[in-house]
Amino acid sequence: MQFPDYRPRRMRRTERLRGMVRETRLAVSDFIYPMFVVPGSGVSREIQSMPGQNHLSADRAVEAARAAFDLGISGVILFGLPERKDAVGSEAWSDKGGVQQTIRGIKKAVPGLVVAADACFCEYTDHGHCGVLVGDELDNDASLENLARTAVSYARAGVDIVAPSGMLDGFVGACRESLDEEGFSQVAIMAYSAKYASAFYGPFRDAADSAPQRGDRRGYQMDPGNAREAVREVGLDVSEGADVVMVKPALPYLDIIRAVADEVDLPLAAYNVSGEYSMLKAAAARGWIDHDRAMMEALTSIRRAGADIIITYHALEAARLLRQGIG
Ligand code: PBG
Repeated sequence: MQFPDYRPRRMRRTERLRGMVRETRLAVSDFIYPMFVVPGSGVSREIQSMPGQNHLSADRAVEAARAAFDLGISGVILFGLPERKDAVGSEAWSDKGGVQQTIRGIKKAVPGLVVAADACFCEYTDHGHCGVLVGDELDNDASLENLARTAVSYARAGVDIVAPSGMLDGFVGACRESLDEEGFSQVAIMAYSAKYASAFYGPFRDAADSAPQRGDRRGYQMDPGNAREAVREVGLDVSEGADVVMVKPALPYLDIIRAVADEVDLPLAAYNVSGEYSMLKAAAARGWIDHDRAMMEALTSIRRAGADIIITYHALEAARLLRQGIG
């Protein structure tokens, strides 16, 4: 059928018509909300580079988790800032660490909420790299041992999902093996499978105080020019036992999300990262863009590209709009 017999505008005439034929819809349950846990209690401090996001002590993080749950958000993902950094990032696997405390707190106060925890060392090491350094190189296999310790420590605290984010080779298999050995076969793994060496992590590194002191992460995170390699990375993680795979960042990598969605049948998460969030906030603060519409459009594009789960700092504000029937 062709014009003038077929007129696509017929189905765009009213909001109800448009809603009836909409192919992609956001749901509150699509979202995972990231939180930054800091030492102390009663702390809620806005992160300068990420307006609207806060550094939270464990007690406050539990309150924020309850707010997320009450909005219908599926889960949270926790990042920790340690009391003290050292060369190997040993506070990451301390059962008394802030992330572990928060996991226990949320599981007590809001047991229905999915709790994921990011397992990485860049926030915990004094050099800011995602594992053990030997000279200027990240020692892959030594870092895996510490990663396994961290995963088990999170599991002991009651985490639902461990999310290793360091892009070390073999990191999913190492987590799976140690979790199973320690009796935590029910704990799932969300693998940061295709994580690019991206400038869009800038505000996060400020928030997590995790910028490398020397060098950069291009020796372990992926080159932005590569697409086929992303599919290969995802395949490795699937074979090592990942339960959910992830593409990160989201908006500059929508093609990668689509390629992975077409290739694997596991649930696919996309991480709408700090730079994507803060750019929108900055433009909206200057009155250059309609914040809410741009946010919903961006989140919809991530779903449309094929992501099942969206990890986003916008989770709470987007959920509120969705509950008002907007979006
Ligand atoms: C740690 C980690 C990073 C992010 C999540 N986990 C930063 C990095 O790799 O430098 C980025 C999240 C964001 O920018 O929102 N490995």
